Amino acid sequence: MNIPAYVIGGWVRDLLLNRPSKDIDIVAIGSGIDLAQRVAKKLGNKYHVNVYKNFGTAQIVYEDYDIEFVGARKESYRSESRKPIVENGTLEDDQNRRDFTINALAISLSESSYGELLDPFKGIDDMKTGIIRTPLDPDITFSDDPLRMMRAIRFATQLNYTIEPKSLESIAKNKDRIKIISKERITDELNKIILAPVPSIGFKILFDTGLLHHIFPQMVLLYGVDNRNGQSHKDNFYHTLEVLDNICKTTDDLWLRWAAILHDIAKPQTKRFEPGHGWTFHGHEDKGSRMVPIIFAELKLPLNEKMKYVQKLVLLHLRPIVLAKTEVTDSAVRRLLFEAGDDIDDLMKLCEADITSKNAYKVQKYLKNFEVVRHKLKEIEEKDNVRNWQPPVSGEDIMKAFNIRAGREVGIIKNAIREAILDGIIQNNPTEALQFMIQEGEKLGLKSN
Ligand code: CTP
Repeated sequence: MNIPAYVIGGWVRDLLLNRPSKDIDIVAIGSGIDLAQRVAKKLGNKYHVNVYKNFGTAQIVYEDYDIEFVGARKESYRSESRKPIVENGTLEDDQNRRDFTINALAISLSESSYGELLDPFKGIDDMKTGIIRTPLDPDITFSDDPLRMMRAIRFATQLNYTIEPKSLESIAKNKDRIKIISKERITDELNKIILAPVPSIGFKILFDTGLLHHIFPQMVLLYGVDNRNGQSHKDNFYHTLEVLDNICKTTDDLWLRWAAILHDIAKPQTKRFEPGHGWTFHGHEDKGSRMVPIIFAELKLPLNEKMKYVQKLVLLHLRPIVLAKTEVTDSAVRRLLFEAGDDIDDLMKLCEADITSKNAYKVQKYLKNFEVVRHKLKEIEEKDNVRNWQPPVSGEDIMKAFNIRAGREVGIIKNAIREAILDGIIQNNPTEALQFMIQEGEKLGLKSN
């Protein structure tokens, strides 16, 4: 077709960084749509071409590759822009309007120069030294698309790169512009930061540039240390980041990582100075778990069972610590198993990640205590089976036994049975539970059949 074409952007970057990628962007100096159609023909017309005329783009899903074709353009590249593309440009124009030097690399696909790398902004050098830098004046690049401020921080975190000082300054200067970006897209980038190997890198930049204040103000409140009568508490912002980095060593699960971020989120709201005692944060686990739905809604995170899971871990995050500190009773362990259910292992991971003492002796001691708790949890679970507890006596059984209808009494008896099992007064089996049910019913003046 005599149309010069290049593979460009993320795929080239990832090729050079040895990160396999299935998203291929191809820029044509001409019509991207025409090129896509010819490619599809060449592939034997087995693959459908999705054409987005308004945007001048076309897509072919080829095996598990997602290949996008677009004509080179002069105006800013915006992957999700609603505005139609008007002006055609050269390859240089197209590279100019991309976000970072490492994302502006192109490889020629034309026969005469096949495989040639075009790197006008020394993206390769920036890769070697680990630098995130905008091709143009950062104020222009970021105002073309303010989401790029988040992307800069996301790439710096994923790749452990440094944002070049002028670009970093520009983020701090333009931070307010993030307001025009949808919450969903911001949170998408935030989640990518959270899923990086060391997410604290990104959170520190978000905080230092002031972006965090816009996108997640509750977390900013964790920052700072108060001092009264020479007594201070730890900085909960940096503590939270340590917990987050710690948990990333044991899990790739986004929601468990979110639980680490939110475990102490209500500390600022529950902070008190109690003379003679020092700083306390009574009830922060309870208040924190109630803040989870509000934060999830604000960030457009899903309000589903994932949110409930995070809520549960925030609510329970002190419980294993209490168990580790005191003489562990079977009933306390049983109760924790009952409440945590299948999330008990994740809860233990969170608690272990929560140990951020600088004192190696203390760390060892706490870890050993948790080892005891884990052991105890296993022992009790094997014996009592309360992790996925199902009542051995149902409401129906109770109604039948006493010839009564659904009502208050049924609830009272059910609760009493559950409590007796959790306290170890009776074993978790139908025989003992039925016997106990009769006794409880009689206490309420009921007669069994
Ligand atoms: N791009 C840009 N500005 C944006 C988004 C994307 O300039 N706000 C350009 C970059 O050249 C980028 C390319 O479009 O490399 C592809 O974007 P996208 O697929 O969104 O991201 P990737 O860079 O491929 O990274 P990832 O797949 O990790 O999101």
